[in-house]
Amino acid sequence: MEDTLIIQGGRPLHGVVSPSGAKNAAVALLPAALLCDEPCTVENLPDIRDVRVLARILEQMGASVDYHSGCMTLDPRCVTSREATYDLIRHMRASYYLLGAMLGKFGEAKIALPGGCEIGQRPIDQHLKGMEALGAEVEVSHGFVSAKAPQGRLVGGEVYLDVVSVGATANVMMAAVRAQGRTTIVNAAKEPHIVDLANFLNAMGANVKGAGTDVIRVRGVERLHGCTYTVIPDQIETGTLMIAAAATRGDVTIENMIPAHMESISAKLEEMGVIVEEGESSIRVTDSGKPFSQTNIKTMPYPGFPTDLQQPISALLCVAQGSSMVEENIFEDRFKHLGQLQRMGAQYRVSGRVAMIDGVKSLSGSRVVATDLRAGACLVIAGLMAQGTTEITGLRHIDRGYDHLEEKLRSLGADIQRVQK
Ligand code: UD1
Repeated sequence: MEDTLIIQGGRPLHGVVSPSGAKNAAVALLPAALLCDEPCTVENLPDIRDVRVLARILEQMGASVDYHSGCMTLDPRCVTSREATYDLIRHMRASYYLLGAMLGKFGEAKIALPGGCEIGQRPIDQHLKGMEALGAEVEVSHGFVSAKAPQGRLVGGEVYLDVVSVGATANVMMAAVRAQGRTTIVNAAKEPHIVDLANFLNAMGANVKGAGTDVIRVRGVERLHGCTYTVIPDQIETGTLMIAAAATRGDVTIENMIPAHMESISAKLEEMGVIVEEGESSIRVTDSGKPFSQTNIKTMPYPGFPTDLQQPISALLCVAQGSSMVEENIFEDRFKHLGQLQRMGAQYRVSGRVAMIDGVKSLSGSRVVATDLRAGACLVIAGLMAQGTTEITGLRHIDRGYDHLEEKLRSLGADIQRVQK
């Protein structure tokens, strides 16, 4: 028996919806709470598997965790373990944040190498280089990363990231907040959740400056105090809902979100002929009645077009007039969804990191498999706009990162059901 989403396509989405808290912020904030000397409360957490898995990992390490209705109070004072084992970590990529948090707090950490989506090699060399620049001795063996600060505490240093990495930026930031002295991270990632993490650390009494720019400066402090912090709205979920609204030729207002985070997505939808109106904390996406124009997408670090929305927007490009070029510059193996879209009638060619998608008149419902998280979102959008019935399996990927996606879409008028088959 496997959970399957069954979608009857062709119904325009209408109404008002709010995104949940950001997954990628949540999975950084919870390990960061380990750095604190007192209990912390994190509010507006998305109800997703990655958050539940993290809660279990933190509990397993000895933290006291009280989690209900999107709100987690975490008391790290009773954490005894310096190790995070493979059985839970294999389920999520972002478990690497435990390395920076534990090393920063205890001066030592042993973490099983992370799992997560199969979208490319996903090395962690920049994370390790950062830890070493802060004085840690790092060893990778038998599927574990072990790191230790020889004097029991890290020492601030200069970290130049060879590639703009969200994970490495956040991890080094966490390791640096309690280090002795100053740390500079050059060529830092600027994603909204990097800023959110810095705000959370500062709310605990850390001294982090420059988050959201290329250079982040951290002055180490002796201790961190408890706080209550609210996670920002999810940029990628918001984008997914915007694309779904456009793809079904609907009229949807997404509320309680941050329009500035969505500029690259709004710009692309407008290029395709969709009407996007920004409010102060809302965005309305409306059909213009015209055929979708082709467009080209190049994924880039923020504020460029996010790789996490490359797959969802591909569904829409399948029915745009003419050929659209998609250049994936972040992960080398992020086109698996196109093979599934082909089963629904899409036409495409892939050469290395570039996919050419030739627009067809419409997609037709089929049985498809979500191969990773955002591929799942792409197939849901394709199902919503296709003629006939689409059946999607592989839902464990979608459940890792989207909070009640089908309920939200149903509230907008989608015909989408989850059944066991
Ligand atoms: C994070 C996001 C993920 C998003 C990605 C890019 C979280 C939990 N996940 O993933 O949803 O798709 O950013 O926006 O926030 N790289 C190295 N060495 C390293 C680290 C990264 O070469 O040590 C490379 C990667 O292979 C990739 C690029 O840097 O090509 C960016 O990866 P990175 O930003 O680190 O992605 P994640 O943090 O894993």
